[in-house]
Amino acid sequence: MRHLFATAALTALLASCTAPEAPFDEAAAIQRGQGIAKATFQQLSTRLQGAMAEGGPPGALGYCSVAALPLVDSLSAVQGVRIKRTSDRLRAPHDAPDADERRRLDQVLAMLAEGAKPIDIPPQALVLGDSIAFYQPILINMPNCLKCHGTPGLEVDSATSAMLARKYPGDKATGYAVGDFRGLWSIRWKR
Ligand code: HEC
Repeated sequence: MRHLFATAALTALLASCTAPEAPFDEAAAIQRGQGIAKATFQQLSTRLQGAMAEGGPPGALGYCSVAALPLVDSLSAVQGVRIKRTSDRLRAPHDAPDADERRRLDQVLAMLAEGAKPIDIPPQALVLGDSIAFYQPILINMPNCLKCHGTPGLEVDSATSAMLARKYPGDKATGYAVGDFRGLWSIRWKR
């Protein structure tokens, strides 16, 4: 009897040891996610501006379409996190949302439909299995974005449109205006 009790106590102790779930600190997770999103955006936009200065939007587009993914991947590896961009109006098929990203996109779209301004949509962090998932809206935050995401014939010149049609046959990512919701940063790391 005594032995049984001791075993039960030990089992309880072990169980509590193997599950040292730290309480989820949402504010800290949001801060970390925002830092990573900001650093990644700066890298992408610095390189994009360099490529635009050299080859105009069509040149930058050639650069962008081959380099955005590896750059984001290598930043991911350095930080030990998975960094992704996704959208409800996709350009690159590899940015397609998974089920959880789709859920957050739908929430954001519902907020926008109810009249929320894109700039007021807050970031979000939540526990997803053994990971933390972080989401933050990406806005069309400067006129430069419109050279490749604006209205064809107006901001998007014909050379750029032709290249977009060739490289991204299913492209849904034009027709935006400055201030529009463009998509989400989706960043995940192990708890
Ligand atoms: C020179 C053209 C160009 C400019 C300028 C540009 N983009 Fe893009 N954008 C692209 C291309 C090309 C892709 C697809 C990249 C890939 O294949 O990974 C893309 C993808 C994206 C994605 C990922 C989602 C998706 O649909 O695949 C987001 C978000 C995005 N752009 C936002 C922006 C924002 C915000 C700006 C302005 C700060 C901007 N882009 C400026 C060409 C451009």
